[in-house]
Amino acid sequence: MSDILISARQISKSYKTEKDNVLPVVKNVSLDIPANKISVLVGASGAGKSTLLHILGGLDKPEAGTVYYTDKSLYGMKESEIEKFRNRNMGFVFQFHHLLPEFTAVENVAIPMMIAGTPLKQAKENATKLLELVGLAGRLKHKPSELSGGEQQRVALARALANDPPVIFADEPTGNLDSHNGELIHNLFVKLRDELGKTFLIVTHNKDLMALADHVFSMKDGELTGQA
Ligand SMILES: Nc1ncnc2c1ncn2[C@@H]1O[C@H](COP(=O)(O)OP(=O)(O)O)[C@@H](O)[C@H]1O
Ligand SMILES: [Mg+2]
Repeated sequence: MSDILISARQISKSYKTEKDNVLPVVKNVSLDIPANKISVLVGASGAGKSTLLHILGGLDKPEAGTVYYTDKSLYGMKESEIEKFRNRNMGFVFQFHHLLPEFTAVENVAIPMMIAGTPLKQAKENATKLLELVGLAGRLKHKPSELSGGEQQRVALARALANDPPVIFADEPTGNLDSHNGELIHNLFVKLRDELGKTFLIVTHNKDLMALADHVFSMKDGELTGQA
């Protein structure tokens, strides 16, 4: 049995639609995310995967249930504490990179460290190392518009690694990439797990990524329907 890093217990979330109808999108989901493993979350579009990922990552409060990081209750904290906790403990990669267009690759990666209180010079040094780690040593001063889609997504991954968080959440990180660039990202996930001990939860439709996962959670209509 491996250690559990994140435990969700009886998580529920619904949205209000027009005419005050209530649409349940996550229904009483409990799951354990093992430390230092790659877990993927699969399911049809609309199954509630992104909503669940946001709840596990402290981005969206559930209506019911709790999320524990080891023994710390995420939503037991004040909003400002959750933000701080997230900044230090979790990194996020989304389908679209959300890099800041007017800043260079190094600056985009350095910004979360500066928010966490790292001095500029140190933040830029760390950012340079992270960009080297993702194979972008030659693109440090490029702005997002000067990078390919695959390179932009690797900058986003380097940014997610700022502050050295134990866990990385990724929502369809290769959904917008060709197979070659998708594979580069997958190889980095494996390297980060094996060399730095990172924990991943990745929403994906990508069969290759499912194949290399240590653990697969399946969702259907807001419910956790299986794990393997
Ligand atoms: N802000 C929102 N307001 C209303 N409905 C939403 C909102 N966000 C998501 N939904 C609905 O919740 C369901 C689950 O969405 P989501 O978690 O994004 O699914 P998935 O990531 O599996 O495609 C979908 O039917 C979606 O339309
Ligand atoms: Mg989604």
